[in-house]
Amino acid sequence: MSDKIRVLLPEEQVNDKIQEIGEQISRDYQGKSVHLICVLKGSVFFACELAKRITVPVTLDFMSVSSYGDGTSSSGVVKIIKDLDEPLEGKDVLIVEDIIDSGRTLSYLIEILKQRHPSTLRLCTLLDKPERRVKDVKVDYVCFNIPDEFVVGYGLDYAQKYRNLPYVGVIEPEA
Ligand code: IMP
Ligand code: MG
Repeated sequence: MSDKIRVLLPEEQVNDKIQEIGEQISRDYQGKSVHLICVLKGSVFFACELAKRITVPVTLDFMSVSSYGDGTSSSGVVKIIKDLDEPLEGKDVLIVEDIIDSGRTLSYLIEILKQRHPSTLRLCTLLDKPERRVKDVKVDYVCFNIPDEFVVGYGLDYAQKYRNLPYVGVIEPEA
C-alpha cells in the first residue's frame, strides 16, 4: 500500500533555493576551494544539486552516522557507520545536511570534525526545524525553515522509502 503525500516544498522552489544558496557559497568562498562533507544517506540528493551550483573548486567526501532508527523519532544514539576517506587538516570544510531536527547528530559531528583541524568548518542544511532543537548548533546556510512535521523526499526517508521524491512532502495519516 502506498502512503498519501502532501507537497510541502515543490521541486521548483527547492531547486531555486539551492541555486541561491549555491551562489551565496560561491561568493563566500571566493578565491578558495570548498570541501563538502555529505552526510549519508539523506544529504546525497541535496549535496549533488548544491555542488553543481557552486562555482569555486569543490571536493567531496562522505560520512555516515546514525541517529535515528527506522521510525520517526530520535533514538538519541549517534555513531559513525562510515568515516571520511580524506583528512580535513587545512581545508575549508562545509558539512552538508538534509535536515536539522534535535541537533544531536550535528553537534556530535561538529565536535569530531573540529578535532581534525580544518581551516574553517561551516554547516549547510536543506531543511531546519528550529522548534525541535535540543542541542544548540550554529547553522551557516539554511535553505528552508519548516514546521515540526515529519517530512520525506529530496533525500529524506520514512523507513528508507521516499528518498527519491523530487520534492519535500508530508505523509498524510490514513483517514
Ligand atoms: P537530529 O540529530 O535530531 O538533528 O536528526 C537529524 C537526522 O534525523 C536527519 O539527518 C534525518 O536523517 C533524521 N530526521 C529528522 N527529522 C526528519 C524528518 O522530518 N524526516 C526524515 N528524517 C528526519
Ligand atoms: Mg534519516
